[in-house]
Amino acid sequence: MKAYRAAILSFDPDTGAPRYWSDGLLVTGPGQGGAAAPRVVLALGSFHELIRHYPGLSVESIPDRLIAPGFVDLHVHYPQTDVIGSPAEGLLPWLEHHTFPQEARFADPLHAAEVADFFLNELDRHGVTTALTFCTSHPQSVDALMSAAQPRGLRLIAGKCLQDRHCPDGVRDTTEQSLLDTEALILRWHGIGRLGYAITPRFAPTCSDAQLQGAGELAARHPGVWVQSHVAENLDELAWVRELYPQDRSYLEVYARFGLLRERSVYAHCLHLDQTDRELLRERGAAAAVCPTSNFFLGSGCFDFASAERTGFLHGLASDVGGGTSFSPFRTMLAAYEAGRAGFTGGGPAKAGVSLAPSRLWWLHTAGAARALGLDGVVGNLAPGCEADFVLLDPRATPLLARRTAQARDLEELLFALIVLGDERVVTRTVRAGSVID
Ligand code: GUN
Ligand code: ZN
Repeated sequence: MKAYRAAILSFDPDTGAPRYWSDGLLVTGPGQGGAAAPRVVLALGSFHELIRHYPGLSVESIPDRLIAPGFVDLHVHYPQTDVIGSPAEGLLPWLEHHTFPQEARFADPLHAAEVADFFLNELDRHGVTTALTFCTSHPQSVDALMSAAQPRGLRLIAGKCLQDRHCPDGVRDTTEQSLLDTEALILRWHGIGRLGYAITPRFAPTCSDAQLQGAGELAARHPGVWVQSHVAENLDELAWVRELYPQDRSYLEVYARFGLLRERSVYAHCLHLDQTDRELLRERGAAAAVCPTSNFFLGSGCFDFASAERTGFLHGLASDVGGGTSFSPFRTMLAAYEAGRAGFTGGGPAKAGVSLAPSRLWWLHTAGAARALGLDGVVGNLAPGCEADFVLLDPRATPLLARRTAQARDLEELLFALIVLGDERVVTRTVRAGSVID
């Protein structure tokens, strides 16, 4: 058993409401499944109430720290680590001029291994303990990432990008081979330790009907496997999809027609949806990965939080590096707040803004994102039975943070100061349930 005494933040597993102990105790220990299984949370609560039940327990005391669930990044591209900060006139030129040339480099397994290692270090530094990531179209880019993640005990879900048209030589795959490669990768990596596989059609414009059809068939054959893609990010992209798929009522319905809209499917962006689309997401149990730093950087629009909350489809926060500008969950939560305030969606009429509560933003990047992945009660929260992935945060990491957090009158003010002023300097330790060493 390992126990930690510090301030603790977690969320009510049912309502998502924050729970906070200024002097808390977190007790972790072996989960079911033996020594190789991830450690789990055994108990948490007020130090003085809980310690009575654990006589003789050795406790690491960290009085100046806040323990919080490890962050869940619901959509990121590890091969775009070197694309961060590449400006363009919107999504499609950005893909052509910056993204595809960088992704072509992943034909080289040595390059893939070097970037994978750097990327996983960045997740650690930023307190991200679960990520759903794209790889490139090269199967070796998946092998490089998975084999680097496995010994780290990270909960990582990843997949080979499927794209058999409308993209350049060097990143374009071929229909039949891409599907064979995907199935081989599922068998090689899905469910190995804490790793999971995601069937990964890049987006409808770069996938032929046959490739989407094949991806849908794989998704039906492997229901425990995730699906990840992009939808309704940019107005030029939308117009292109209308040309390519004139028979479908909406962009989202293209994926539905091919069997790619189901539980455990996660669609990045979801900016330009209508109410029928939102209800379809909800009915199918599919999720939106909201990527606000990317949406601001590429000028794509703002996610409509008010309609999402009203409709009640699954959604959570994501960095979308390298369209996104930071690995930091703090930056993403702040941008999500700003997108909520802005309230417009880019193309349509202006909408009134919403003010997302700091604890809600935090939930959307932890327990809410885990729920979107179908990993509710497994990661993203600190509750008995959850895998013990957590971060130690220093609310005094910078002079301004120390000054501002000292004046916080309640939990929401404390979280807001961290969201607005925090970055990786706040994350003093990242503890993964599957890691041998903390
Ligand atoms: N749509 C298709 N591919 C991509 C990508 O790599 N990044 C973003 N932001 N949108 C996409
Ligand atoms: Zn993306």
